[in-house]
Amino acid sequence: MAYGGRIESDDKNPMTFIPYSRQCIDKDDIDAVVKVLKSDFITQGPKIPEFEKRLAEYCGAKFAIVFNSGTSALHGAYFALGIKKGDKFITSPITFVATANAGLYLGAKPVFVDVASDTGNIDASKIEEKITKKTKLIVPVHFAGHPVDLEKISNIAKKHNLFLIEDACHALGAKHKGKKIGSCKYSDMTVLSFHPVKHITTGEGGAVLTNNQEFYKKLLMFRNHGITKDNSRFTIHDSRIIGDWYYEMQLLGYNYRMTDIQAALGISQLKKLNLFVKKRREIADLYNKAFRDNPYFDIPFEEDYAYSSYHLYPIRLKDKFKDRKKEIFSKLRAKELGVQVHYIPIYLQPYYKELRYRKGLCPMAENFYQREISIPIYPAMTQKNINYVIEEIYDSFKKV
Ligand SMILES: Cc1ncc(COP(=O)(O)O)c(C=O)c1O
Repeated sequence: MAYGGRIESDDKNPMTFIPYSRQCIDKDDIDAVVKVLKSDFITQGPKIPEFEKRLAEYCGAKFAIVFNSGTSALHGAYFALGIKKGDKFITSPITFVATANAGLYLGAKPVFVDVASDTGNIDASKIEEKITKKTKLIVPVHFAGHPVDLEKISNIAKKHNLFLIEDACHALGAKHKGKKIGSCKYSDMTVLSFHPVKHITTGEGGAVLTNNQEFYKKLLMFRNHGITKDNSRFTIHDSRIIGDWYYEMQLLGYNYRMTDIQAALGISQLKKLNLFVKKRREIADLYNKAFRDNPYFDIPFEEDYAYSSYHLYPIRLKDKFKDRKKEIFSKLRAKELGVQVHYIPIYLQPYYKELRYRKGLCPMAENFYQREISIPIYPAMTQKNINYVIEEIYDSFKKV
């Protein structure tokens, strides 16, 4: 498959709302969806395995299993490893709640490790001190599309005999040491999301990538009520009972299936992924040039080993401004800039407070939250949009 295509630019009047990210849908995408709508199968049809094959090929993994969200994909990935009540898993507090919630669904307890102050990624040097006998899994998040140091983290996982799942919901199209995120070179599984703000979209949707056939088979069942139609896996072998209708439910799964309508959109979007990432990187470059050495905030950077796919462009307020985020944020929103904050450290959420997590647990994460603002970055941004964002950001900071 060629990863080319074009981007239909979002030629908005710069005075209309410019979100922090958004989908980029063109006529080819719409045609692909309409074609499925007119076909025999709008779900459980041929577009699902086709999307999975192309996704696995793109990332360089053996298997891809698509889900109806990144959250259900995470749930499936943890389940496939056998994560259960009483287990603990290590993750970052600077992520969407789904990364930790997926473990709670299974009765496991998230253990939050603090982040690096610059990338917002989990601080690999602080992981080992949090490992106990109950720890089964590490789930680093490639925050904003900037890969974590996978080599370092996988060495820790290997040393302590732990599983490793990459939450790559921000990082489709990113690379670690030249190798695509999703290849699972260092991990047991990698999880993606296709929410509209992500690199490609299926409306809602997600996927797990893996090189392990057993995980693959378990994930297929988990996505579909724990049902298998693969006769090599049947537990009953009585030919009087088993006909072509026969299936077995062997574990408690869910309906986490993606539709063919969504998969067709995913296939069409995947063709443009490289272009989308290139465009995001070009915008990041323009911002880097415009904001270099500014007195108000620090800009993101890339580690030597990393090729970021810039799901976000997170700026971090300098000391002088760190207590004035609310004011700055409101000023930016008043200028129709759809800035956002990523993220409130998960353990500060009321639900997690009930689970006895406390403020002060991860000081760098709390500091990162205090300073972080995500400014608009998405493939269909026009030069006019970009110039507007730069001008209005400078203007807003000058006035605080
Ligand atoms: C880091 C991270 N993990 C998991 C998810 C969950 O994905 P979804 O919204 O597709 O369920 C998201 C989505 O926002 C995310 O950003």
